[in-house]
Amino acid sequence: MKLNEILGTEFPIIQGGMANIATGEFAAAVSNAGAMGLIGAGGMDADTFRENIRKCRTLTHKPFGVNIMLMHPQAREMAQIAAEERVPFITTGAGNPASYIPMWKEAGAKVFPVVSVVALAKLVARAGADGVIAEGTESGGHVGELTTMALVPQVRDAVD
Ligand SMILES: Cc1cc2nc3c(=O)[nH]c(=O)nc-3n(C[C@H](O)[C@H](O)[C@H](O)COP(=O)(O)O)c2cc1C
Repeated sequence: MKLNEILGTEFPIIQGGMANIATGEFAAAVSNAGAMGLIGAGGMDADTFRENIRKCRTLTHKPFGVNIMLMHPQAREMAQIAAEERVPFITTGAGNPASYIPMWKEAGAKVFPVVSVVALAKLVARAGADGVIAEGTESGGHVGELTTMALVPQVRDAVD
């Protein structure tokens, strides 16, 4: 199955979940343009995150998602909000989201964690992730030492 078919978007493109940049309005603009827009929770508090999800819903009828930065002190609350608000697509950064995945799946979301090592890809796959986004050390602040070009084929071999 092609990525855009899995996402329900016109194009097989997922916008980066950028803290302090990717608001609900930003994500809606990307989704309206035919890609998967993401609200970057990183620079927000939990209440602002919920407001941005609701704002995004008023601006687009297309699929959109969120990126939850797992080092955020309110990450657990944000994970809960994403489930409560029935966000259709969830990505994560800077950590291991395995404990949240069953709750997100229960809420009907597709879950694609960002992974920077093979071990995390295997772990989230076992926890029920629908896909992984493999990003190397050059990708805007992610932990990990492999480059994307070295990482992607290893992840490709390690998970289905
Ligand atoms: C300003 C900025 C903020 C970012 N914030 C986050 C973040 O909060 N969470 C995350 O998982 N990735 C974050 N990223 C990484 C992007 O989501 C994306 O994965 C990365 O930039 C690689 O995509 P690119 O090669 O298209 O830039 C950020 C990137 C930028 C440039």
